[in-house]
Amino acid sequence: MAKVKVPATSANMGPGFDCMGIALELYNTVEARIIGSGLEINTFGRDAGYIENNQNNLIYRAMEKVFNETEFKPPGIRIVCHNQIPVARGLGSSAASTAAGLILANYLSDSKLPMERIIELGTELEGHPDNIVPAIIGGMTISYMEDFSSVQYIKLGFPENLRMVLMVPDFMLGTREAREVLPKSVDIKDAAFNVSRAALMVAALMTDSLEHLKYASQDKLHQPYRERLIPGMKEIFEESYKAGARGVFLSGAGSTLVAMVDRENYGFLDKIKDFLRKKSLNWELNYVGVSSQGAAYVQ
Ligand code: HSE
Repeated sequence: MAKVKVPATSANMGPGFDCMGIALELYNTVEARIIGSGLEINTFGRDAGYIENNQNNLIYRAMEKVFNETEFKPPGIRIVCHNQIPVARGLGSSAASTAAGLILANYLSDSKLPMERIIELGTELEGHPDNIVPAIIGGMTISYMEDFSSVQYIKLGFPENLRMVLMVPDFMLGTREAREVLPKSVDIKDAAFNVSRAALMVAALMTDSLEHLKYASQDKLHQPYRERLIPGMKEIFEESYKAGARGVFLSGAGSTLVAMVDRENYGFLDKIKDFLRKKSLNWELNYVGVSSQGAAYVQ
């Protein structure tokens, strides 16, 4: 039997479309063991009712990928999940499931695959590396690839003093739907805008120049197109800045919005809570730190 704890992740961080991501202190715990026959999956916790406990389960599909490569054929598998990560809210629940499945299957196959291969398989299953890499590696990562057989990344430090406020809507948004609203090509001016903001995001975080984060969080490649899928997004960005957020961005493909706030900004949560109540938005707020550790075995 093996058990892993995998963090939620927030991809893009504003301008870093499909390349930046960060692991958050919100976790799914998944255990897997070999049984005599069949497939048994039990999922408990957050949004458990939305998880398919059958052959389509993302954890199981990731496990199959590893078993195909390692040529290990278990007679049967039992999977038990305890989840904290909301489903289809842009917090990397599919990446967490994929990471868990790959790592558990590799453990059951006597760790035949190196971590680079696990990351490549995860990226292939996810389609892009920005959630899966921090889910596995932890912290904030910049990932890039030429194709699925060559995924590279750098893990960065993150300012000690920053915390993330996850503003989680009461509605789900699928990544496919949120990618369909994106244009097939963009104006060179918008591309240049994003290059400057993405570079600024890394530079500001690396040098603790937090006063730049507001500009570093700006994006013209995906957020403006996705805004219409998230009623209230623009106002909540404005309100978050009024309440002292350092930066605000759409988490992954949405629907969650993330505000980066100073640890000492004690009033932030109450101000946003009041605003959401006034607007009759039944959103949940979650105050978390960055998880410097990625997927890890637990007892
Ligand atoms: N980079 C991805 C996107 C993250 O924005 O579509 C969601 O999986």
